[in-house]
Amino acid sequence: MNAVLGLFRSTIGRKIIMAVTGLMLFGFVIAHMIGNLQVYLGPGPINEYGENLRLVLHGTGIWIARGGLLAAAALHIWSATSLTLQNRAARPQGYRKQQWNESTYASRTMRWSGVILLAFIVYHLLHFTIGSVHPDFVPGDVYHNFIVGFKVPIVSAFYILAMLLLGLHLYHGVWSMLQTLGLSHPRYNALRHGAATLVAAVVVIGNISMPVAVLAGIIDEAPARPQAAQVLPR
Ligand code: HEM
Repeated sequence: MNAVLGLFRSTIGRKIIMAVTGLMLFGFVIAHMIGNLQVYLGPGPINEYGENLRLVLHGTGIWIARGGLLAAAALHIWSATSLTLQNRAARPQGYRKQQWNESTYASRTMRWSGVILLAFIVYHLLHFTIGSVHPDFVPGDVYHNFIVGFKVPIVSAFYILAMLLLGLHLYHGVWSMLQTLGLSHPRYNALRHGAATLVAAVVVIGNISMPVAVLAGIIDEAPARPQAAQVLPR
């Protein structure tokens, strides 16, 4: 019990919490992207995939995953906020001269990109899960919701912007997580830079490709079949 409390109280403990929860959220982002990329295979596979996710453990699996994700996101935000406040308290006068070095730039970017990403997730849930801000939401028809949702250019533009910010957030996140895990020697800088760039690029390209493919007409809904009455000879 004391060890757990120590983890929450100490600076290094909160950095570890931030790194571990960041890794969990990152795992979700990758799995979610791979699942969503099935949209390129047509309506069957992605709708079936959505249906299967909802049926895991007779429907309780998705709630366990949602609970885990929510807890990871809450702990990630809490540790980031408390470390930021602690850093500020340690320098009560603030920076007299702002130091625009790499670490201050990265941490400032992490804060505002994190806040915008949180707003994106709320919008995203209303858009694709609850459907309240979707122009024609059909429960269970993930493919239809996907295509119709991304056909609205301003919505696709918002997703693209959010994914670029996610890339920036992941880049700095992976960079500082590798530092927390001990790869802080300048000798490893090239390795950390390469790993962070690769991770961010894969997520940004994979996710952005989907709204772009819808807007470009590369993926679309099958044209509605003519009604039987219309094809019958008069
Ligand atoms: C272009 C990128 C993305 C696309 C196309 C996309 C697509 C979708 C779709 C279609 C659903 C509904 C699935 C269903 O009803 O079965 C969904 C749910 C969800 N997405 Fe995304 N997503 C994207 C990016 C993200 C990102 C970056 C995050 C988080 C950082 C995220 C978090 C979620 C969450 C938490 C859910 C709800 C899962 C649930 O509880 O049912 N998504 N997404």
